[in-house]
Amino acid sequence: MDTLSNTKNFQIDKWNKGAKGYNKWHDFLEDEFSKVSIRITELIRKSSNPILDIATGYGEPAITIAKLLPCSKVFAIDKSPQMLTIAKEKSKIYELNNIEFIEADITETHLHKNCYGSIVSRWGIMLFPNLDFILKKVYKSLVKGGKFVAVVWGQKEKVPLLNIPQTVLGSYDLERFGVKTCCESNGPFSLSNIDKLKEQFSKIGFINLYVEKIILTIKINSLEQYIEGVKELDINPLLSNIDYNTKESIIKNLKEKVSKYKDNKTGLITLENEAILISSIK
Ligand SMILES: C[S@@+](CC[C@H](N)C(=O)[O-])C[C@H]1O[C@@H](n2cnc3c(N)ncnc32)[C@H](O)[C@@H]1O
Repeated sequence: MDTLSNTKNFQIDKWNKGAKGYNKWHDFLEDEFSKVSIRITELIRKSSNPILDIATGYGEPAITIAKLLPCSKVFAIDKSPQMLTIAKEKSKIYELNNIEFIEADITETHLHKNCYGSIVSRWGIMLFPNLDFILKKVYKSLVKGGKFVAVVWGQKEKVPLLNIPQTVLGSYDLERFGVKTCCESNGPFSLSNIDKLKEQFSKIGFINLYVEKIILTIKINSLEQYIEGVKELDINPLLSNIDYNTKESIIKNLKEKVSKYKDNKTGLITLENEAILISSIK
């Protein structure tokens, strides 16, 4: 199998396995992450229909857009059926009938040309191994004057929520347990350089590039809650086969690293994370 197919399979597997955790932690995360979906919605509020969300995961920002812009028609694509199951359940809660979920890999699926008033993606585009190809596709499928708004993570030092687990895991040789750790080249921080990000957009033809940083503050009650979250969102699906001692060592290391962000009086852990929003026009 070639590298691209390996990466694709790794990612589908990862998101399918992680979906249970995302379902459980959805409300906790969205308490803060919804800020980003609301900001995306503000930026596209004058958009014509339809609107497309790529890599919607558990349905964001598509659900927020459909709720806040009831006259909109929103399509939302993701390649993980398990993540889409959560998205569909969430949209039922709000009785939304202006949203449609599509199971598809954005790399392979056909998008109509000159069709969408706006295209959005929250924490999706930095995962695409072939970003130029996707950006060209997005560009072609927007109407003239249509907006593309994407959100990525900032530099890893500014995103402890993801950086701590990634650094700790990266310090172990987990391949010997059959744990796949491929795809770092297009990991969560791969588009954190703002100048390069703008350059990638402008070379495709996008204009009026506008960037803003959004700080997301995640508050965790205790070290135990932190470990539970990390296990269920990141580590558990990947590490089911590793031995007891290695698991304990990873947990110890995670606790040590995150303790830097702990208030010793209250035990509250506060993680401030930087997201980068880029808005552009065709
Ligand atoms: C970090 S999650 C973001 C989900 C959601 N947008 C959010 O902000 O919570 C990334 C999502 O991208 C999806 N994804 C990754 N590559 C994709 C591709 N090529 N086509 C469609 N979806 C993809 C994954 O299945 C996963 O659900």
